[in-house]
Amino acid sequence: MTGIVQIVGCGPGGSAWVLPRAREVVAGCDVVFGPSDLQALFPEYRAARMDLPSRVETAAPLVEAAAGKGLNCAVLVRGDCGVRSLAKGIERLLPAGICRRVPGLSSVQVACAMFGVDWDQAKIVSAHGRDPGELDRCALEAPILVLLGGGDGFGVVVERVAGSFGPCRIKLASDLTLPTERLVELPAGGSVPSNLPSRTIAIFKKDIQ
Ligand SMILES: C[S@@+](CC[C@H](N)C(=O)[O-])C[C@H]1O[C@@H](n2cnc3c(N)ncnc32)[C@H](O)[C@@H]1O
Repeated sequence: MTGIVQIVGCGPGGSAWVLPRAREVVAGCDVVFGPSDLQALFPEYRAARMDLPSRVETAAPLVEAAAGKGLNCAVLVRGDCGVRSLAKGIERLLPAGICRRVPGLSSVQVACAMFGVDWDQAKIVSAHGRDPGELDRCALEAPILVLLGGGDGFGVVVERVAGSFGPCRIKLASDLTLPTERLVELPAGGSVPSNLPSRTIAIFKKDIQ
């Protein structure tokens, strides 16, 4: 019989931010797939552990092979499964009906909470490992834009996006829930720091009269 594959949102990184349900699910699995920093959030469980390549086409066959042997698998993802995670790709490539999602707290939710911003009308755009290019109309017209990214070159992308989004306040959240967490609110016309950590979220909030 085929095992089931549970794609588990692990929160933004801090151990206190992993939901109890995620711990229950991981405790019940035979194999846990995911990067070492997420594996380290579950030190108490004795399941077999395996890192996963970031390309979903390479990762999915490894998970499918384990599930095909009847093993119940957990695939750990950062934040929530529904925000730019491996979940959609894994579900597309694995046999229908064997995947389930276990939600986690997204870094987007945490960043917005830290700055007291409602995110129900936010448009989320990813610059994680790629340039998002020009914003579409839906993003340009949103009252709040959340840009995922970080690392080298992200500051330039933030400045370009700010230029096309129009008058706005910019807030930067890096390494949320980790000891190196950094929150910055740029003054009007202020320049974006160049050395943003690889896990950074920029929130653009329109100046509405
Ligand atoms: C591939 S996306 C994954 C998002 C994730 N599924 C979520 O819900 O948070 C990776 C991006 O999430 C953001 N991110 C993840 N963890 C973060 C953290 N602890 N602090 C700040 N940003 C974070 C960064 O923008 C990073 O480039």
